[in-house]
Amino acid sequence: MSLARSKVFGLTRQYIHQQATTSVLISRNFCAAPPSYQYIKTEKTGTDGRVALIQLNRPKALNALCDGLMTELTQALTAFNNDKTVGAIVITGSEKAFAAGADIKEMQNKTMAENYTTGFLEYWENVSKMRKPVIAAVNGYALGGGCEVAMMCDIVYAGEKAKFGQPEITIGTIPGGGGTQRLTRAIGKSRAMEMNLTGTPISAQEASDWGLVARIFPPESLVEEAIKKADKIASHSKIIVQLCKEATNASQELPLQEGLRLEKRLFHATFATNDRKEGMTAFVEKRKPAWTDS
Ligand code: CAA
Repeated sequence: MSLARSKVFGLTRQYIHQQATTSVLISRNFCAAPPSYQYIKTEKTGTDGRVALIQLNRPKALNALCDGLMTELTQALTAFNNDKTVGAIVITGSEKAFAAGADIKEMQNKTMAENYTTGFLEYWENVSKMRKPVIAAVNGYALGGGCEVAMMCDIVYAGEKAKFGQPEITIGTIPGGGGTQRLTRAIGKSRAMEMNLTGTPISAQEASDWGLVARIFPPESLVEEAIKKADKIASHSKIIVQLCKEATNASQELPLQEGLRLEKRLFHATFATNDRKEGMTAFVEKRKPAWTDS
């Protein structure tokens, strides 16, 4: 949300500041998507190619999130986010690993001064800044930064054998991509504290029971099921989907009354769109809506 719109809605200064500072993608030398990627695979799938699929593809290192992989991931996400034909995005890994965390070999010799002055890992947050819905389809390990990237997505689905964990404590550091913040919001303080302080991963079933994961599927059908959900989302009006995502995400940052106020304003705003009118007219006329995304 822009600063100007925040002022119109009369939101708190804190929220205005958060939104003003986070609504801009963190710079990471983005350019047009390269013709081919080294660490990821991408394709358009679903009905009329309206679902974008990004597969993390660094099998020898269990998809450890080296700088090259994360740069490509954020480039591909940005490209699909800007692609008018795409309505939702799915990120997955392999059956063995969604991602085994930040690349420990790349981090091994880094210094505090270097990390601080270069804003190490800050651009990872771009994953959470897409306007289109992003689904994580997690098979195998989602550890450290892998669990954190999954939590940056809007919905997490898991294969039955997935493992979620924040093992940073076991290598002498702490989570740096949201593991102390998003995880705590998702599963509560006591469980997040246990995961972060012991470093012991949890199963897909526990992740589901605790609210980190929306649904569990057999490993072999996980990606297909995630694409089906993404296809369903992409069947709706893109502008209304974006408004809905913005309102739902605000619940993670705002006090209840501010969140309810924002929701009401965005709900009112849907009445300025052609698609709101089309959706209700189609219902009354007993036909399918023809969205124009306007
Ligand atoms: N970084 C770099 N390389 C990694 C890696 C990582 N996070 N995780 C795995 N690899 C590499 C291994 O070094 C190994 O490479 P070599 O064959 O060249 O030795 C290869 O992937 C296969 O790994 P393993 O042989 O260890 O496979 P395994 O099946 O025996 O064990 C595992 C799997 C339990 C996931 C284990 O690899 C592991 O514990 N990985 C590290 C997990 C971790 O600590 N993640 C947190 C990283 S820190 C972080 O993410 C910070 C943050 O918040 C952003």
